[in-house]
Amino acid sequence: MIENPDPIKTLMERHIGLVDELGLLKITIDRLKKRFSPNLLEALKREIFSFLKSMEQHIRFEEESLFPVLEVALGNKREQIISMARDHSNLKEEIEKLKTLITNLDIETLEEYRKIINLVETIIASLTDFFTKHINDEENNLYKPAKEALLKKELVEIERRMQSIEE
Ligand SMILES: [Fe+2]
Ligand SMILES: [Fe+2]
Repeated sequence: MIENPDPIKTLMERHIGLVDELGLLKITIDRLKKRFSPNLLEALKREIFSFLKSMEQHIRFEEESLFPVLEVALGNKREQIISMARDHSNLKEEIEKLKTLITNLDIETLEEYRKIINLVETIIASLTDFFTKHINDEENNLYKPAKEALLKKELVEIERRMQSIEE
């Protein structure tokens, strides 16, 4: 039994966590730009995979838990939901790009190494810009009205769906 569900709060905390993870990725990339280290490169790969997993789960939380309930509860916000889902499509494309790049890393020369690190840096920077704007829009245009309008039984339903994704 879910007692006092506050899925919106959980989702906002996830936003903070994801932005933090992006900040940590930037720190690792900066270190890798200063000196080549195979171990640190492996660490970056692990950090990126873990970030992508959190990001994919967050998107599922919203698309499979929050959005369907919100669509019914806030009929007049449908445009906003569509717009956020469109952002998610862009995010998913970037996630796939990054996954492919990291999975098929094949570095033989220092020149190649620099090229890859610069490319990863560019992707992470644009992802950070895009995601920061996205969560801003989402929190203002969806989370805020959701907090005001959702009934307890709807919050329970969102929470229940989120838990089933987590399992
Ligand atoms: Fe989102
Ligand atoms: Fe979000």
